[in-house]
Amino acid sequence: MRLWPYVRPVRARLFTAALVAVVASCTGLVIPLVLKWIVDGPVADRDPAGVWLGALYLLLLGIAEAVLFGVRRWLVARPLSHVEAEMRADLYRHLQRLPVAFHDRWASGQLLSRGTTDLMLLRMFLAFPLTFLLVNGVTILVGVVIMLVQDWTLGLVVLVPAVPVLWTCVVFEGRYARVARRAQDQVGDLTTLVEESVLGIRIIKGFGRHRSQARAFGALSARLRGTELHKARLLATIWGVIVTLPEAAIGAALVLGVVQVADRDLSAGTLVAFLSTALALRWPVESIGFLLAMSQEAATATERYFEAMDEAPEDAAAAPPRERGQADPATDAGLRFEGVRFRYPDADPGSPPLLDRVDLHIRPGESMALVGATGSGKTTLTALVPRLHEVTSGRITLNGVDITAMPREELREKVAVAFEEPTLFSTTVGENVLMGAPDGTGRAELDRALSIAQADFAHALPEGTATRVGEQGLSLSGGQRQRLALARAVVGRPEFLVLDDPLSALDVHTEAAVEAALRRVLADTTALIVAHRPSTVLLADRVALLSGGRIAAVGTHQELLRTNAEYAHLMSGEEDSR
Ligand SMILES: Nc1ncnc2c1ncn2[C@@H]1O[C@H](COP(=O)(O)OP(=O)(O)O)[C@@H](O)[C@H]1O
Ligand SMILES: [Mg+2]
Repeated sequence: MRLWPYVRPVRARLFTAALVAVVASCTGLVIPLVLKWIVDGPVADRDPAGVWLGALYLLLLGIAEAVLFGVRRWLVARPLSHVEAEMRADLYRHLQRLPVAFHDRWASGQLLSRGTTDLMLLRMFLAFPLTFLLVNGVTILVGVVIMLVQDWTLGLVVLVPAVPVLWTCVVFEGRYARVARRAQDQVGDLTTLVEESVLGIRIIKGFGRHRSQARAFGALSARLRGTELHKARLLATIWGVIVTLPEAAIGAALVLGVVQVADRDLSAGTLVAFLSTALALRWPVESIGFLLAMSQEAATATERYFEAMDEAPEDAAAAPPRERGQADPATDAGLRFEGVRFRYPDADPGSPPLLDRVDLHIRPGESMALVGATGSGKTTLTALVPRLHEVTSGRITLNGVDITAMPREELREKVAVAFEEPTLFSTTVGENVLMGAPDGTGRAELDRALSIAQADFAHALPEGTATRVGEQGLSLSGGQRQRLALARAVVGRPEFLVLDDPLSALDVHTEAAVEAALRRVLADTTALIVAHRPSTVLLADRVALLSGGRIAAVGTHQELLRTNAEYAHLMSGEEDSR
């Protein structure tokens, strides 16, 4: 039922295809009746011409069946690929809109496998089991009726195994569902491991961990193999039951039928027709085993797909503004944290919040450095401004407007960010930087941003700013990547700039040059800059010290050096603060 919205647009074709398949399958059931006519008519009358005519009928029936199955295939192939593509696109769109907290929690391989293997299983389900469970059901029903009409005692003999076969199917369904789920989850784990080791290949090689990594892979892959074998055993069991019992019944019917023919209670032609009908039903019955298996896998795939799809995305729209007092331009302008409290959703429930009543006001045009020991929550605090995480309580305002009352589009236009870990995408240098600006931003702005970030090296790359950087920009040095990330932050001339230790990988000379250029930008930008080194701190008008989950002190660098022991220690030049 959950797949229906995706299947709806192609329902007409799918239904037609099923109808065609039913007709094709039932055409096959006419063949035994022609056989009966041949045996009881021309064969009994020793009329060769009649036999040839019968053969011609059989040939025509065979061709009709083949053509109809071909038409079915043609009918479903295109629409089902379309369904798969639609579902994949929806999943991708949805993943993009899910909050960072979701991505913190989910392994990327689990998402990858949902977007690939699971969707492929779904397409196969729509192509085969969905149609053929119906087609085979109808075929078996029609076939059984034909057999009962031919000779009802023989028909009942053939029907005896139906009960144990059905029971086996029900038991099989339940067991197979559990194993299928386990197998698909294990595919996800395996994908995660492969992805991590590809991304971490430098570390793995650098520390000579390729053997242990290969062992970990081997273990996961052996686990998956075990699960797949379990699936195979279950399939073998159901296959054994489904094949053996009906065949035994057909054998019994054959013996009984021959006795009846010998006693002249039954015509030879009827027995031939009866047996060939029974044999024609063999495939529809036997295939039910793997059709059920595929359906179970598809059910699991659907479950996994919707687990990701059911996660609530970030609300794109703005929340209604909360009740508040009269706006006061003097104190409201700029970036303001008011009693901000934050705890990671997956943090230990008993633990104190990471940020506890943070109050900080950065005036318009001011740049504020944020200093604090490692793990004090600086990165977390900066991530709250573009709403990568939601505050647990309290609020953050930009020029007096609560950021939750602002459409995300607008918020992210106003605020630009650069994080400690500069992330680049596998596209050109220019496009990486221009991600930070509205579409259609020109060359001049790009050059300006590159020069502020001291990233002019980009012009000297083989193809200038059109040079493609490798996956994650790993073909560049850490400092180069940081400068491109910084250029991305400033290219859109944001009103608010949030920088999480953006200069950590630069040498002192480059840092000084970036700072000089940043000073010019920062003159009309409100900025919050996480800093470790005194040189970066000096760039800011004031400094805030984050300690114990709150802002412990605010002042100029010199003031804090004199009055605050913790600050003096952090800035004492020992790099232990990182
Ligand atoms: N996604 C997360 N989920 C849970 N805890 C986190 C997450 N990110 C960071 N933390 C925890 O929050 C604390 C502060 O991290 P962070 O803000 O990165 O500190 P800083 O940038 O000041 O070094 C750390 O103790 C860290 O373990
Ligand atoms: Mg940090």
